[in-house]
Amino acid sequence: MSIEIRIENIADYVGQQVTIKGWMYAITRKGKLIFVRLRDGSGMTQGVAYRPEIGDELFEEIKRLGQESSVIMTGTVRENGRAPGLPKGYEVGIESVQVIQNVQNFPITPKEHGVEFLMDNRHLWLRSSQQWAILRVRATIKKAMIDFFDDNGYINIDTPIITPSAAEGTSNLFEVGYFDEQGYLAQTGQLYSEATIMAFGKVYCFGPTFRAEKSKTRRHLTEFWMMEPEMAYCDLDELMQIEENFVNYILKTVIEKRRPELELLGRDISILENAVGTYPRISYDEALAMLADIQEKTDDPARKKELDIEWGDDFGSPHETELTKQFDKPVFVYGYPSQVKAFYMEPWPDRPEVCKSVDLLAPEGYGEIIGGSERMSDPEALLAAIHKHELPEEAYKWYIDLRLFGSVPHSGFGIGLERAVTWICGIDHIRQTTAFPRTINRMYP
Ligand code: 4AD
Ligand code: MG
Repeated sequence: MSIEIRIENIADYVGQQVTIKGWMYAITRKGKLIFVRLRDGSGMTQGVAYRPEIGDELFEEIKRLGQESSVIMTGTVRENGRAPGLPKGYEVGIESVQVIQNVQNFPITPKEHGVEFLMDNRHLWLRSSQQWAILRVRATIKKAMIDFFDDNGYINIDTPIITPSAAEGTSNLFEVGYFDEQGYLAQTGQLYSEATIMAFGKVYCFGPTFRAEKSKTRRHLTEFWMMEPEMAYCDLDELMQIEENFVNYILKTVIEKRRPELELLGRDISILENAVGTYPRISYDEALAMLADIQEKTDDPARKKELDIEWGDDFGSPHETELTKQFDKPVFVYGYPSQVKAFYMEPWPDRPEVCKSVDLLAPEGYGEIIGGSERMSDPEALLAAIHKHELPEEAYKWYIDLRLFGSVPHSGFGIGLERAVTWICGIDHIRQTTAFPRTINRMYP
């Protein structure tokens, strides 16, 4: 009797007859042998059909199968150190194959395709091994993010997707008609979490967030998932410590659980191992001085120009890239000018032009993966900030209430799931980190 298995467990069945339900990834022929690469969603393995053993009829039938044909394959598992697959080193000596659908002309072949073609066929491209590996890493990162907070006393409170106002600037809002009113898709759940911490102490929200990003970059999606913890009685230093512990936990979990996928992606795992530890903390002012130094030392006029920046400007990607290249670990940059950050950040004592914000920049040029801050506590200063940012006062009445009834110092941060996956997988574009990405020029499929 053959046992139905998933390929990820194949190592447990050496010498036994198994049945695998899956899809043909590739097929090659060598004389009396056919090598079939079969995937079943959990992994990939090699099936070997030997003509004298299986007979002419079945051999011919397998030979005619096209890429992505769906098949149920039965055979005996053998160890073979050279057999490709995930897990590596096993193969199945084919005894029978039941063809569910013989597919011809699958659009995505092993040859090179342009990225727009692949994105148009994203519903099929997801079956390719690289895309499969990235999304498995994503699922593990997502679970690690949740586990970290669930295991540390945080309560998960969901926040609304339809909101009456902006929290992260008015330039990238998606409008939704809300009966007779104007609503917006949430850019963040943070302001609501600031309300729920006063009831639960430590909370997180984790869901899709939306930004009508009008620029085409490697780091921006219009719909992305953000994990946002918020803590009562927490200052900027404590916030950085929590972020560091959190990122360490994610890295360790992924390295432990998804090593084969990272190897399949060609990721240098030693770089990730090295990113576990204590992260340097530098101020915006120090970062600016470092950039000036780098700019001074470069002979390349284009790079010199790119690095031009004055106090008060936000960092662009060239600045973040240069800064992260100075460190082999993620680096905290804190104390940005208030004018480049959201309205709700606590001002620095005796330096009102600076705020208690902190970004965590990932190494190797990946840049910002986390944004966070201590939140403004004074109700009058908050109202003034709302006016300064030209936000509608009525929509924030409840938010100011929070500063009137048991206000406490509090802080929180947001990490973009897709940014974290891009960095950890070591890939060059964020669009591959989600199954069906939404960007400025794409909402199909
Ligand atoms: O720095 P941001 O805008 O901060 C907030 O939204 C705060 N409310 C978070 C908080 O304190 N609770 O965004 C946080 C993170 C960024 O560091 C980045 O990782 C990700 O969200 N992010 C994006 N990811 C993909 N595409 C975009 N368009 C993104 N915008 C932000
Ligand atoms: Mg930010």
